[in-house]
Amino acid sequence: MLDETMLKQHGQEHFLEYSKVMSQSEKEQLDLDINRLDLDEINDLYQDVYVNRKPIEVAEDIEQVNFDVKNQFTLDELKSYRSLGIKAIKEGKFAVLLMAGGQGTRLGHKGPKGTFSFNDKSLFERQAEQLRNLTEEVGTPIHWYIMTSDVNHKDTLSFFLEHKYFDYDENYIHFFKQDHIVALTTEGKLILDTDKHIMRTPNGNGGVFKSLEKNNLLSEMKENGVEYLFLNNIDNALVKVLDPEFVGYTIEKNSDVTTKSIKAYEDEKVGRIVSVDGKKRVLEYSELTPEDVNKLDNANIGIHVFKVDFLIDAASKPLPYHLAVKKLKQLDEDFSVVEIESLKFELFYFDIFQYAQTFATLQVNRDIEFSPLKNKEGKDSIETAQKDLENNQLL
Ligand code: UD1
Repeated sequence: MLDETMLKQHGQEHFLEYSKVMSQSEKEQLDLDINRLDLDEINDLYQDVYVNRKPIEVAEDIEQVNFDVKNQFTLDELKSYRSLGIKAIKEGKFAVLLMAGGQGTRLGHKGPKGTFSFNDKSLFERQAEQLRNLTEEVGTPIHWYIMTSDVNHKDTLSFFLEHKYFDYDENYIHFFKQDHIVALTTEGKLILDTDKHIMRTPNGNGGVFKSLEKNNLLSEMKENGVEYLFLNNIDNALVKVLDPEFVGYTIEKNSDVTTKSIKAYEDEKVGRIVSVDGKKRVLEYSELTPEDVNKLDNANIGIHVFKVDFLIDAASKPLPYHLAVKKLKQLDEDFSVVEIESLKFELFYFDIFQYAQTFATLQVNRDIEFSPLKNKEGKDSIETAQKDLENNQLL
């Protein structure tokens, strides 16, 4: 049964109140949930990331990373990148990873974001279709890794099953779940979700590397002869999945990380790819002065290629947690459902860039490669993505 002393020691004695109105089996469940946690570690996280958080420091000595501009390549150069890319894909050197563990609450769409459809074709289908066409072109199957989270794993799997894997060879689709981490109240207390379990939320897209490692997927890639991993977000309606020209560019650059970028608009709320003390980083809009935001206009669109050897080496290295303060649905001590500002902890995948020895960037044309679906209305919305798909004859 609940260990009163231990709970008090860790400032989690509110569970003693909850347990008074819980059934025997609920109490047992709670006890199990608590025993699985390292309460000291959780307290350290709370202290580091929330209590002792520093006001966002605007980094000094930030430099723009060097980048090539795709529009400046000649047709012959593009052709040769393409054939280099096709050759590597044909040789099975590339696998693809789709990060689809996010909640997508801002879009107001029920279900995983990838199930959102334009003209009856979902984002998942649009990406599957590109990989299917590429597989047909090169004649070699491409391993497609899809990261989900507890929040959307079941729904994602049933969506794929229901749509017969979009005619993609299901033996080459590998779903895996990212990890989760507890959410806390602003007082550092664990929270009960509406199912009376301790609330845990996806640990941010930076959880991807540890989850790959934990599921032995990096070693599996290596055994399958995969040397590079192409990674992309779910919500870019114009994403060119495993675009052969970019693949060829990656091969030629031979870097630990190769990334696509775009030229940001003034004040655009996208991360900036920069170099701080020689280390490559993505700084979000809020981490930069308004002046720097517009000076550093080379922006992150969530499209990267990692060398698998680099990931094998870097996956176990530490990444920092970032804080997100969000309203979360939870139970109060009377078991009423309430929505309260609470603390979520998230890892960002691009924090692994700091471990890269070599890094290359290709700036591409946003009109044909970037249209993020983030909001219901306004900027980066259903309407703007629909227009961009139309302009690119993809509807
Ligand atoms: C992200 C980038 C930002 C970039 C922008 C471009 C991060 C932290 N920031 O911002 O630099 O300019 O995209 O559109 O990536 N995801 C998971 N698990 C999670 C959280 C997210 O798989 O726990 C996935 C999402 O499903 C999505 C991707 O990660 O595919 C990006 O996450 P999102 O929350 O949409 O990031 P943004 O804030 O839009």
